[in-house]
Formats: sequence, C-alpha cells, structure tokens
Amino acid sequence: TSNLRILGIETSCDETAAAVVTRLEDGSAVIEADVVLSQLDEHSAYGGVVPEIAARAHVDALDTLIEEALARAGITLADVDAIAATAGPGLIGGLLVGLMTGKAIARATGKPLYAINHLEGHALTARLTDGVAFPYLMLLVSGGHTQLVLVRGVGDYERWGTTIDDALGEAFDKTAKLLGLPYPGGPAVERAAASGDPKRFAFPRPLVGEARLDFSFSGLKTAVRQAAESIAPITDQDVADICASFQRAIARTLMDRIGRGLARFRETYPDATNPALVVAGGVAANKAVRMTLDDLCAGYGFQFLAPPHHLCTDNAVMIAWAGLERMALDMPPDELTVQPRSRWP
Ligand code: KG4
Ligand code: ZN
Repeated sequence: TSNLRILGIETSCDETAAAVVTRLEDGSAVIEADVVLSQLDEHSAYGGVVPEIAARAHVDALDTLIEEALARAGITLADVDAIAATAGPGLIGGLLVGLMTGKAIARATGKPLYAINHLEGHALTARLTDGVAFPYLMLLVSGGHTQLVLVRGVGDYERWGTTIDDALGEAFDKTAKLLGLPYPGGPAVERAAASGDPKRFAFPRPLVGEARLDFSFSGLKTAVRQAAESIAPITDQDVADICASFQRAIARTLMDRIGRGLARFRETYPDATNPALVVAGGVAANKAVRMTLDDLCAGYGFQFLAPPHHLCTDNAVMIAWAGLERMALDMPPDELTVQPRSRWP
C-alpha cells in the first residue's frame, strides 16, 4: 500500500469533529487537520447532553467544519482516498447527521465509505500516537463508557469488563451536581479534591475483590449523596473532603479491577515481552486516575500509554485512523446502505 489519506467525521455525542489523516507506507500517521467544535455551552445549562440540541448543533456545524478541515490540510475532497464516519454507538440524531454526510460525500465523489465504531476509534488511537503492537489492553473511561477491552487486532476485540450501572465520567458528573459544582463534573471534582482530606469519608469500593472485571459506580454516588445530606450547612471544605474521598474510592476501585485485568493479560499471553495498558476517554485527564494506573502498570511490568488529551476525548482523528487501519489491511468499505446504530458493543 502507498500513502493513504482519509477524511474522518465524528458526531456521536456533543462534539462535532472533522479530521484529515494520512497513513504513510511505514505505518506512521500524519494528522493534517484536526477540528473539534464542542457543544459544551449549549448543554451546560441542562447539566448534561440534550440529544435534540446535539443533533441540531451537528447539522449547523458539520459542513463548515469539514470545509475547514480540508482547508487546513490544504486539499479538496478530490485528494482524499476515502471517508470514515462514526456509525455508532452514540446518540442516534448525531450519528444520522455524521453518517449521512459521510454517505453523501462518498456518493458524490465515488470514494469508499468506512462506517466506524466509535469505541474502535478510541481503542486504536494508541497505535497512531505510540505505534503500540497487538495485543494490548485498553481502558476506556468517558462520560458514556467504562470498558476494559482486550485489543487483539483491527476489528478483533474482547470486552473483559464494563460498568453494570453508571459510567465513570457519569459518576463524576453526578457527584458534582449533588455538590453544586459546575458541569462537566470531572474537572470540578478534581479541582475541589485538591484541597480535601481523602480519608475523611470511607466511601464504598464496589465489586472490589470480585473475580469478574466489571465496574459499578452508582453505589458510590448514593454514598456521596448521603454524606452531603448528613452535613448542614455544608462548607467548601466539606465539599473538598467529599471530592477527595470520592476520588480515593475510585482510585482504589481501579487498582483492584484493572490489577486483575493486567494479571489476566499475563495469564493469557505469558510470552508477551512488552505488554501495554492504553487509556482513553475524558476521565483519563484526571491526575489521580492517571497516577493510579501509572503505579499499577509499573507494578505489573506494563507500559502505560495515555495519548494526548485532545486524542483521548472525542475527536475525528481517531475515526479517520480506524478507517486507515482497515484500508491498510484491505478490509472492504461499507455499503452506502449502512445504518447508524445507537448501541453497538
Ligand atoms: O471522552 P469525553 O470527553 O466525552 C464522552 O463522554 O464521550 O468524556 C467526558 C467525561 C465527562 O464525564 C467529564 O466529567 C469527564 O470525562 N472528565 C473528567 C475530567 N475531565 C473530564 N473526569 C474526571 N477528572 C477530570 N479531570
Ligand atoms: Zn468517546
């Protein structure tokens, strides 16, 4: 294969994104354009993403964003070899906008379309940034997902653990809301926790000690509510202590759950010489979470890979890259009859 260039489109949640990425013959990548428009302002008043507002905002922004990505890359549609668009999982209104746009461009230009699973985009990002080799473990911790996935190859994944209730980012967001902190909750909780006492509250560590690799965070949220309600009036220091204790409970939970995952990887691949854990999703920005994973990996002899923040959160570069990985393996593109899927494990 020679150099391959693709236009990527991402619209599954509250980020409208377009990117142009080229894969060179040696397997490395050049990000020629990476444009992301966050809808944060449109949703923050509601304390969460409103699907209808999101879909309309994607309609408003996507065509201009694609033009901007092409302009930044200094090319036109004639210069791309294919189009990659997120087809799921996510909010169906947004997926429809992005996938239909991808189909329309493919139809008009006669170029192939790759309908990409958003989770696959997250899973393969570390191959673009760090060239990590298969197999490896990936922890996705975002507002919508909490999954530990064995990545064996392109299109070849095994989910080892998932949340049985709230996603980790969701737990941060709900905790922030309970405590009167702004949306999105993760950064606000982390900021407050910096001046708090992590040992003041003994919050639960759900599923710790269990052999299966799943997660559960809704009990933690309930415990936070009870702690907050037991103090009146609640001071900034109380809030800081609750946030610090909350983060500590999460760190301990991750240590147990992910520790088991790393051990299972060792059992599955006893000959692996340079095993790696890759993290993705917005919660990967959290320093307590990062430090926990970093320490854990050091202890188990794993390489810990955290792509730069803008490639950990939702973006179109990862969707473009997932398409390029498929093209490089001569995997067939999708038919233009392909449908978006709000659920797509
Ligand atoms: O990956 P992302 O940007 O969007 C999706 O959910 O797809 O992740 C957003 C989530 C939110 O729940 C947000 O509160 C959380 O990531 N988050 C954080 C931090 N920054 C963002 N959680 C904890 N600590 C942070 N510093
Ligand atoms: Zn995502």
